[in-house]
Amino acid sequence: MKLEAEVKIANNLGHVRATVFDHTMIIFDTFVDEAVRHQGHGAVLLQEMVNVARSLDCDKIVLHVNNKNIPAVKLYNRAGFIYQQEERHMELSLES
Ligand SMILES: CC(C)(COP(=O)(O)OP(=O)(O)OC[C@H]1O[C@@H](n2cnc3c(N)ncnc32)[C@H](O)[C@@H]1OP(=O)(O)O)[C@@H](O)C(=O)NCCC(=O)NCCS
Repeated sequence: MKLEAEVKIANNLGHVRATVFDHTMIIFDTFVDEAVRHQGHGAVLLQEMVNVARSLDCDKIVLHVNNKNIPAVKLYNRAGFIYQQEERHMELSLES
């Protein structure tokens, strides 16, 4: 069964969105408004989503992050996410 999950901060200033499928949570959208960054909201949102994943009996949480997105990489690292060496990012361009 596929489920959608979302946690938000007040006034729509930030959110984390995820899909849960087969005991795996896939985080696909993490965002905090520029005006309120560096105040710990990203970390709190992520921790709340980890709690949601646990409550849904997930085995793991996976996500994709660009290497150059330093704030996001730091955020995920601090939350305990680690790179999976065996995974490769693949993409099919649909532009002609
Ligand atoms: C990535 C992102 C979600 C981080 O959100 P955030 O709310 O700024 O995250 P946090 O506040 O938890 O952490 C950011 C920094 O603030 C610091 N911080 C946290 N609380 C703090 C406080 N009270 N005072 C000062 N600094 C603080 C953290 O230590 C961290 O510092 P570091 O990056 O030097 O390690 C945000 O930058 C963003 O929305 N970026 C654009 C969207 C994006 O790229 N999303 C990720 C896609 S994969």
